[in-house]
Amino acid sequence: MTLEEKAAFLTGKGAWETADFPSFDLRSMFLADGPHGVRRQVTEADDMGKIPSIPATCFPTAATMANSWNEALIEEMGELLGEEAKAQRVNVLLGPGTNMKRNPRCGRNFEYFSEDPYLAGKMAAAIIRGIQKNGISACVKHFAANNQELRRMANDSVIDERALREIYLTAFEIAVKEGGTKALMSSYNSVNGTYANENEHLLRDILRGEWGYTGMVVSDWSASNDRVAAVKAGSDLEMPSCKYGAEEVVKAVRDGKLDLKYVDECVGRLLDLYESTKIDDNAPTDFDVYEHNRFAKKCAEESIVLLENNGILPLPKNEKIALIGDFAENPRYQGAGSSIVNPTVLSRYVDRLLGDPAKSAPKNKEYDPGIVGGGKKEIKVVETYVEELVGYDLNVVGYEPGFDRYGKKDPKKAEAAMKLAETAETVLLFLGLDEVSEAEGMDRAHIRLNENQLELFRALKAAGKKIVVILSCGAPVELAELREADALVYACLSGQACADAVMDVLVGRVNPSGKLAETFPERYEDCPTAGTFPGTKRTSEYRESLFIGYRYYEKAEVKPAYPFGYGLSYTTFEYSGLEVTEEGVKFTLKNTGDRAGAEISELYVGKKDSALIRPVKELKGFRKTFLEAGESAEVQIPFDDKTFRYFNDLTDGWEIEGGTYEIYVGASIDDVRLQGTLEKTGTSDVIPYDLAELPSYASGKVQNVSAEEFEKLLGRPIPTGKYLFYTKNRMVIDDNCTVDDLRYSKRWAGRFCSWLVRFLTAFSRFFCIRCFESTLEIGIKHQPVRGIAKFLGFSRRQKEGMLRIFNGQLFKGLGMILFKPRKNRLQAEK
Ligand code: BGC
Repeated sequence: MTLEEKAAFLTGKGAWETADFPSFDLRSMFLADGPHGVRRQVTEADDMGKIPSIPATCFPTAATMANSWNEALIEEMGELLGEEAKAQRVNVLLGPGTNMKRNPRCGRNFEYFSEDPYLAGKMAAAIIRGIQKNGISACVKHFAANNQELRRMANDSVIDERALREIYLTAFEIAVKEGGTKALMSSYNSVNGTYANENEHLLRDILRGEWGYTGMVVSDWSASNDRVAAVKAGSDLEMPSCKYGAEEVVKAVRDGKLDLKYVDECVGRLLDLYESTKIDDNAPTDFDVYEHNRFAKKCAEESIVLLENNGILPLPKNEKIALIGDFAENPRYQGAGSSIVNPTVLSRYVDRLLGDPAKSAPKNKEYDPGIVGGGKKEIKVVETYVEELVGYDLNVVGYEPGFDRYGKKDPKKAEAAMKLAETAETVLLFLGLDEVSEAEGMDRAHIRLNENQLELFRALKAAGKKIVVILSCGAPVELAELREADALVYACLSGQACADAVMDVLVGRVNPSGKLAETFPERYEDCPTAGTFPGTKRTSEYRESLFIGYRYYEKAEVKPAYPFGYGLSYTTFEYSGLEVTEEGVKFTLKNTGDRAGAEISELYVGKKDSALIRPVKELKGFRKTFLEAGESAEVQIPFDDKTFRYFNDLTDGWEIEGGTYEIYVGASIDDVRLQGTLEKTGTSDVIPYDLAELPSYASGKVQNVSAEEFEKLLGRPIPTGKYLFYTKNRMVIDDNCTVDDLRYSKRWAGRFCSWLVRFLTAFSRFFCIRCFESTLEIGIKHQPVRGIAKFLGFSRRQKEGMLRIFNGQLFKGLGMILFKPRKNRLQAEK
């Protein structure tokens, strides 16, 4: 390849494909979302799900699957995902997402597994192994510390090295080392001052150096800020295509600013990926829709978490039931944004219990995607299956939506629901978050359910009804009131087979076995980052350091509504006989109830006399065990290289603190059943800090860490999060200022653009044009100038022109946008 060809190979062709070179017999690779189902667009553009993609099985989202704590299950789900991707000629499936849940408001939490890096890493590794069994590639994302959606392309995560390593990178490390991912996506944000996609510390030192990763790194879509720096850091592929990315690489090599060896390394890794993800033209283009749907149901069944039950569940036979709540008719089963899947079928509660159950049966579908690799092909799913859908022995009296899904008051709906409830013994109340309140590109404004849903709950309660609440949302909501229901079932976002799975739990065909992979706080204000999330300026300061999720609640002694690792069952389990050895723990688990069930046993490790900043205890292992009624089993959970390690900033490496460790085995973080100790020899005497100088971290009370204390932990001054201003309210607009920021532009043109976008967003919100609102919010309002320029297909010069306009040089800027430089024009004329 010539230098030009190499550089062109390193930037995409269109939105989803890599460049092809017929002369080298090198075809394009196709990259498609996503994490819980294949989203292969039928058009060239990235529609973020606005135009349905080729139908595929919509499995439960990561937030849901994590509640199953079942690695084998998610590995098998990955295998089916990979099979569908291969059938759709997708070489790289863009998932899983394994960022930490730093704050429950992050709009993309539904796409992520957990607040705990160990659990998230194990789930990510398992799904990757499954996907890659098909000979294609998974792509773990978004590397790294990408924990808020607000200003996601223009935000710098300021984190101390220990928290970065232990909390924000560990899940990726497990995904790389144990999952063997062939591809990894760098994130939009910058980390400690450098964009993740060009961050040598992250990509070269840690990912490739320490973890030995030899796979490919791709930028998140339009995340590329400085292509030359990215190549140097080892980010191989820029996606989607960019007019000037390749030109810059060529120029930098020619000018001696970039060593050709970096370009060659990237090309080599991309070729390796190409070779290892080739899909045979004769490979099947169909998949068993019915079986995949059935498996999606199994995944959902194992992930549903029973939060409350006063004995009302499982529902008795012939119980008189009213279905109330809009979510019974329009289930919330996945999130919004780039992960959105066009499901092969959708099971709705109303169809399953009142209507024609055949509506919920998977159907044969044929489609001509037009752009499948290797020419036009028909993706055809197998023949229609007519499953005999088993009914339920329930006496269902009817359905009423009860409330407006988007929160508008609607007394008529509420009245009709109350009237229907009068005729029933028990109300199945379907509540949840609507699809625009948790979505990619936006963080939630609060963590409450809409008030109209709570009002209906209160009215039903006051009327003396027995109430079973089924909650559909991808992240915690405040549950102080709903806890008073007779039963509370957290369905999370459980994929296309949601209703079938939930109904089987409600009637007891399935014994619930999911446990929370994240803490549900009592109130939002209780969260460690309630006062600092999201970062609204250039920086987002991770002042809480290690103390996110249960690490905070336990250490700071803040009682959550539902703790990490919590979930009820229709049976009971007894733990006994703990043995702790150098290798791990062993104990006996007995199902002491009268029905079969599964128990997730959790291994935590703590160190009471630690000289370090430390959470009380941390998850270091888990096992899910299925037991018949009365059955016992010996359960073993091994220790591994992560059980006792901590990252020492001074030795710049992983160390073990010597001394006595407490070993806990429990049914949740708050429900320890067995306890032991183990002595460990330390690996270093170097203590990285003076705890007396870091009182908030020593106590874990990190809600209000002062700048001085955070600086002590960081070991450097906090970078300024401020913008540069010409005068008050007139900002210096650079590449990374967003459309929202243009309101402070020197020129009316910038201010007008910003105003227009903000006006249209507010307008569409007011008139409930949700889809348009989210497109503006996700796609435009928080896009930096460089993103907009790429979107418009601008050259670098044209982008510079745009910046000139925003900074006051209207005519000069326009000239740069509209006309080519004189030299180029003369050349073109020649
Ligand atoms: C998202 C990625 C996604 C990509 C392609 C980006 O906006 O952050 O997660 O894979 O788009 O759709």
